[in-house]
Amino acid sequence: MRFTDQTALVTGASTGIGAAFARELAARGAHLILVARSRDKLQTLAEDLQATHGVRVDVLPTDLARPGAVAHLAEQVSQLGRTVDILVNNAGFATHGDVDAADPGRLHEQVQLNVTAVLDLTTTFLPAMTARRRGSIINVASTAAFQPVPHMAVYGATKAFVLSFTEALWAETRPTGVRVLAVCPGATETPFFDVVGAEEASAGKRRTPEQVVATALHALDRGVPSVVDGHANALVTRLPRLVPRRTIIAIAERTVRPRTSATTHEPATTRP
Ligand SMILES: NC(=O)c1ccc[n+]([C@@H]2O[C@H](COP(=O)([O-])OP(=O)(O)OC[C@H]3O[C@@H](n4cnc5c(N)ncnc54)[C@H](OP(=O)(O)O)[C@@H]3O)[C@@H](O)[C@H]2O)c1
Repeated sequence: MRFTDQTALVTGASTGIGAAFARELAARGAHLILVARSRDKLQTLAEDLQATHGVRVDVLPTDLARPGAVAHLAEQVSQLGRTVDILVNNAGFATHGDVDAADPGRLHEQVQLNVTAVLDLTTTFLPAMTARRRGSIINVASTAAFQPVPHMAVYGATKAFVLSFTEALWAETRPTGVRVLAVCPGATETPFFDVVGAEEASAGKRRTPEQVVATALHALDRGVPSVVDGHANALVTRLPRLVPRRTIIAIAERTVRPRTSATTHEPATTRP
């Protein structure tokens, strides 16, 4: 699939999966609008992609967890005279530990970035795509979307929102020519786990951001509502359909359980 002369807005483009999306879309001919908080990293990537692929790259440093951030971003996009043909809602982060020990502000920020910004960016750019009867929205969910995740309760819930919302949107937009996809990575080798600050959050062999992007763009081309990256991850996400919900919660709890007790309760209280 080529994206020549289309413009892609990629959130969380400064590192990891977002940067890999930016690189691959530029290689396939797309102009880019790069969004994240780290201006310097975005600028370095922009210069590299402009030089390598001859595409136009604009950098809009934005904290998407701030209320009103998306409205301001949309204004800047419009001032640049750009039309968004491809929206990649990728920015996101996770926290690890029990809810009662967590910083409520940090949990709120997680919902703002992983849920509210995804919703706001979609409602901002989708209507024009529908009117043009052309466009693509890729929302980055997670294998955490398929079951509750004790000790990462808010993260799992935000990604369940992203998956459910995106698949519903896929059905709504089918007659319009706009393509919508949720991509669900499992553990992927990015700075994500430095932000989480807990190795327990990483289950299974890590894949690369490039593999996630290849999986996503192939699935977008096939027109499916969602895709899980990697065969082993896909297998794991089928488990909730095969075993009782309570068992799935227990498995998830054991997988992600903190190795120190500083941020969690004794296991006996959470085992069914
Ligand atoms: N890595 C994994 O194992 C994994 C697995 C499943 C799903 N995912 C999902 O994949 C997506 C990308 O994560 P990643 O693995 O690439 O992690 P990452 O390398 O930590 O990238 C996260 C990106 O989001 C940006 N970001 C964070 N807070 C932001 C904010 N308030 N406003 C704007 N941008 C913000 C970061 O840039 P700045 O810090 O410069 O703002 C960075 O570009 C996330 O939605 C994550 O939940 C990752």
